Amino acid sequence: MKLLHVIASPRLAGSTTLTITDALLGGLAATAPDLEVETLDLFQADLPAIAGDNIEAKYTLLGGMPVAAEHRESWAQIERAIERFRAADVYVISAPMWNFGVPYVLKYYIDCIVQPGYLFRFDEHGIPRPLLEGKRMLVVSSSGSDYREASPLHALDHFEPYLRSIFGFVGIEEIRFVRAHGVDASPASREAGIARALAEAEDVVAELWPTAAEAATAA
Ligand SMILES: Cc1cc2nc3c(=O)[nH]c(=O)nc-3n(C[C@H](O)[C@H](O)[C@H](O)COP(=O)(O)O)c2cc1C
Repeated sequence: MKLLHVIASPRLAGSTTLTITDALLGGLAATAPDLEVETLDLFQADLPAIAGDNIEAKYTLLGGMPVAAEHRESWAQIERAIERFRAADVYVISAPMWNFGVPYVLKYYIDCIVQPGYLFRFDEHGIPRPLLEGKRMLVVSSSGSDYREASPLHALDHFEPYLRSIFGFVGIEEIRFVRAHGVDASPASREAGIARALAEAEDVVAELWPTAAEAATAA
């Protein structure tokens, strides 16, 4: 089982999001020892531009034609990024909320890999259909404020709905969110937000790998 960990926080050691992810990955490693974890740090990655040859190639594909010979070398970089993504069975995305949405590197990555003929296709009626199947995703996040359902800020949360939409669009239906809310509001709010997220991370591990989790508890 291959897990791709996509990091979209620039803070690394000081990152609240990654502290929660570390706990989750630690839990997964204990319950699913066959897990092969690969890390993709988007702030260090040299992602291909969606401009120049690549934007030409994309519109050629959208027009139902194969990529032209003069764009193929450049397009191969996009294909490599897509292949790396497609090779995983499980994804863990670590991303804080930035300006009510996702950090720009994560949007950039999504713009690179969500391509026609690779992650989705158009059917004979021109309706887009997903091309991924059987994959699971966990999104770990933190935000300065609280966006839970009862919060007055809930309507401003474009982070979770966006990620559900775009990854659902390509066929990843099973997406679980582990979010630490309100971590910059006050020390008490931070403590409570992180404690809730850590408890959720534990539940998610047990839900995803119930047999392994039971075996670990019994041992
Ligand atoms: C550029 C930027 C934009 C942010 N925008 C929001 C926001 O819209 N809402 C919010 O609640 N917190 C926002 N924050 C706060 C972060 O979401 C919060 O500090 C988070 O815990 C950072 O995660 P990290 O430590 O993993 O990087 C923002 C922080 C930065 C740096």
